[in-house]
Amino acid sequence: MSDDHIQELDPVTGYDTTGHNWNGIKELNTPFPKLVIWALILTFIYSVIAWILLPAWPLGRDYTRGLLGLDQGEMAVAGYRDMTAGRQDWMAPFAGEDFAALQADAGLMTRAMPAAHRLYEDNCAACHGASGQGGPGFPALADDVWLWSGEVEEIALTIRHGINANDDSRYAEMTSFDWMDRPDREALADYVAAMPAGEADPASPAGELFAENCASCHGETGEGGLEVGAPSLTDGFTLYGQDTHTVWETLRDGRLGVMPAWNARLSDAEINLLALYVAGLGDGRDE
Ligand code: HEC
Ligand code: HEC
Repeated sequence: MSDDHIQELDPVTGYDTTGHNWNGIKELNTPFPKLVIWALILTFIYSVIAWILLPAWPLGRDYTRGLLGLDQGEMAVAGYRDMTAGRQDWMAPFAGEDFAALQADAGLMTRAMPAAHRLYEDNCAACHGASGQGGPGFPALADDVWLWSGEVEEIALTIRHGINANDDSRYAEMTSFDWMDRPDREALADYVAAMPAGEADPASPAGELFAENCASCHGETGEGGLEVGAPSLTDGFTLYGQDTHTVWETLRDGRLGVMPAWNARLSDAEINLLALYVAGLGDGRDE
């Protein structure tokens, strides 16, 4: 950089140069843009107004509240109250249990389903899957295969009181058969694994074991017992798995799947709404 401080007018812009010259590159002495100055003035004026009107300056444990007295915490709470009050209007009919009438009211159902979907996502999806597809130990809800029942009333009962969750729950225990001789258990495991393909022979020794020990809950032919929540062993849908090894584990350890009770966490209307939603998931869809 040479420092010859010769001021001259720039021929293109007409501005002064600062006189600085870096190997022939000269710096224009342009004035500070007015737009920026105005923007600075306006933001300053705005901040003074905001300090006066809105909560702004901390004062130890307190703060200046501003002339408008706005409080975003209170605004959020008020907004939430308005929202729930608005929801009560159309949620109210769901507190009743006339499911047929609710299902018949297409307008109401259409209006309610997005909320039902959110309730499902918040409370049920973690175990039953985002679209009700289920997973090992967690029954699918989006099919037409039920441990208990696909009736809306019965689904509502399951959601309200759960399964194996407390004294009011539905109770569905597969007791352990570890007292049974190991060869018998192994034969039974093979037998049960062959049931979905229809290759289990009821007249075989294992078939007799099944009739003696299992049919009381799972049904003579293994068709399942809805009244005790015992899954069908013939339909190909399984909760834990129906390969020989998994059945063998089921016989050794027993099974006691827990579905939590929701009556303490969700309102009656929310539970009924969810029951309608779950019943709708099963409609005509097969996995
Ligand atoms: C902590 C996991 C968990 C959560 C969360 C959960 N469930 Fe379940 N649910 C289960 C299990 C496990 C079973 C099967 C219990 C058994 O083995 O008998 C079940 C069973 C069911 C059944 C009976 C299915 C049938 O075939 O009869 C329904 C209906 C159901 N759940 C609906 C729901 C709904 C609706 C929600 C949300 C409010 C929900 N579940 C939340 C674990 C859960
Ligand atoms: C007291 C009634 C009862 C008896 C007796 C019983 N089960 Fe079960 N079984 C159940 C119930 C209830 C379940 C579901 C457990 C759960 O939901 O966690 C089940 C589950 C099963 C499963 C898991 C099915 C799946 O979809 O993964 C198999 C396999 C099974 N039982 C086989 C048998 C065999 C074999 C016998 C006879 C040795 C037998 N059970 C006797 C009630 C019974």
